[in-house]
Amino acid sequence: MTYEAVQACAAHIKEQYTGPMPKMAMILGSGLNSLADSVDDASVFPFNELPGFPTPTVSGHAGRMLIGKLDGKGVICMQGRVHAYEGQPEEKLAFATRVLWALGVEILVLTNAAGSLDEEAAPGALMAITDHINFAGVNPLVGVNDERFGPRFTDVTTAWDKELTDELHGCADTLGFKLHSGVYLMAKGPNFETPAEIRAFRMWGANAVGMSTVPELLAARHLGMRVCGISSITNYAAGMTGDELTHSETMEYGAIAAVNLEKLLRAFAGKVA
Ligand code: HPA
Repeated sequence: MTYEAVQACAAHIKEQYTGPMPKMAMILGSGLNSLADSVDDASVFPFNELPGFPTPTVSGHAGRMLIGKLDGKGVICMQGRVHAYEGQPEEKLAFATRVLWALGVEILVLTNAAGSLDEEAAPGALMAITDHINFAGVNPLVGVNDERFGPRFTDVTTAWDKELTDELHGCADTLGFKLHSGVYLMAKGPNFETPAEIRAFRMWGANAVGMSTVPELLAARHLGMRVCGISSITNYAAGMTGDELTHSETMEYGAIAAVNLEKLLRAFAGKVA
């Protein structure tokens, strides 16, 4: 059923948008919405007008799909996403990614807001994701496998595409700012982590922690799409400073990180899309 629902949603979009379909898409995380404003010639599809599409409930997530141009290159921009902590069934966390695939997208850029476990990566910084830890235990591939999407067992040894990530670093070098690298750990949320959890995650090798992205990576790799990811660091993780964590801080520093992220995605689209 999901396969048919995905195809029906993609067919609906193709009826409304008859231009050439971009091969690259990006999913924008909390506080990064402004970036979608820089998509040129955008055709806009609110998620709630797309058949079968799950709709986000969090402030900071607009819930729209834009098909347009970035640096003259065709891109699809997902402004907002749904999260496991919103209580969506796991399979729904794959829906947007699967629709992008059904539209012909081959390269997916995942972005998120994250807390940093590294002193060097301060709020406002960007981190390229080299690998992840699925601490949330959430997995959209659970259930009966539909071979039309992909195989039962998905290899994730090289899930985060090295070539695309090198390209991101090249773009950041040219733009003149530091792009950190590291392991993203997904926690389910919706609470932020405890200081004890953060100390444990650091021992496991995590560099940043957030509440999204991994389900989309898993869905995309199942489908054989190429994926790279960028965390925008919005805060030091719990217990690293004397301060408590707030969603408004996430939004504030997300907006600061978005300035460089927008430049980075524009340059990346110019090279890769
Ligand atoms: N933890 C989890 N998710 C987050 C954080 C954090 O510290 N910051 C932004 N999203």
